Amino acid sequence: MAAVGTWSFSQPAVDRLRSLITSGCHATDAVEEAMAGWLKMTQIKFHPSVEMENDPETGRHIVGRGGFPNSEGVLECDAAIMQGTAGKFGAVAALRGIGTPIRVARKVMDRSPHSLLVGDGAAIFAREQGFSIEPNDSMLSVHSTKAYEVTNLQEYLENRQKASGHDTLGLIALDKMGNITVGVSTSGAPFKSPGRVGDSPIPGSGLYAEHMVGAAAATGDGDRIMCYCPSFQIVQLMKQGSSPNEACCAVLKDIRRRTFPEKCFELGLIALNMKGEVGAASTVEFPYVFWDMENDSVEIRVQLPPSNKNE
Ligand code: GLY
Repeated sequence: MAAVGTWSFSQPAVDRLRSLITSGCHATDAVEEAMAGWLKMTQIKFHPSVEMENDPETGRHIVGRGGFPNSEGVLECDAAIMQGTAGKFGAVAALRGIGTPIRVARKVMDRSPHSLLVGDGAAIFAREQGFSIEPNDSMLSVHSTKAYEVTNLQEYLENRQKASGHDTLGLIALDKMGNITVGVSTSGAPFKSPGRVGDSPIPGSGLYAEHMVGAAAATGDGDRIMCYCPSFQIVQLMKQGSSPNEACCAVLKDIRRRTFPEKCFELGLIALNMKGEVGAASTVEFPYVFWDMENDSVEIRVQLPPSNKNE
């Protein structure tokens, strides 16, 4: 049993993963619940719920409700879930009007013949599944509305490389039965073009999982990340015997070599294997949260970027 989450704001979600997984919850239910903050299961004992995606405050971290809108002032979210079992993947992209996109992604995985639904099609599917579609105003927070109103979009986009982005809630859970699941959720690049989709809902880029091997998730500049499929590469390296840390570092090193280290984009990677070992690598200072079963502690670890001198 183990769990890991991107950025320090994932701590309440990793706490919740610990509680759910030790109670016998399936990794997929645990990831959905820890992200969306709601559980429909009856065998599981009562656990106090925390909200992540649906909390407007978490929107400051570019996740779910309260996230930054697109260039037309509309919030569009991407989310995905992948269970290690072959073929178990579901995702939504550019989804409007729903504060818990991971739950719609889960429904896509379980109830749709498709794997990825976008925009109006994702919203139509969600409505068919019983979700209500809220007006855009109720999806924004005071903070995100103000940021949209005061931001000079041209200037923001020109300086985007320099802007610090704590984007994407990524969670990986390994349960008692040996199931491994990864989920990701983001409102995407602030003030993006309408319809822009980042790395998060793209299998192999924002997330990947393989039963008996492990799982990985990415965070950062999704327009660049999706050109390299880092999550797929990490899992393939673990399959060939690398530890999660060796796999994350090797993938980061290769991307930095290909982009030139000094020009590399913002990228944070986490991975977990079936032994419950965790790994991370990043081009920026990258705090991540790890539930270490041996010490039974949920701790924040800080991954530092490699120094250019060493390459
Ligand atoms: N990494 C999230 C995004 O760029 O959309």
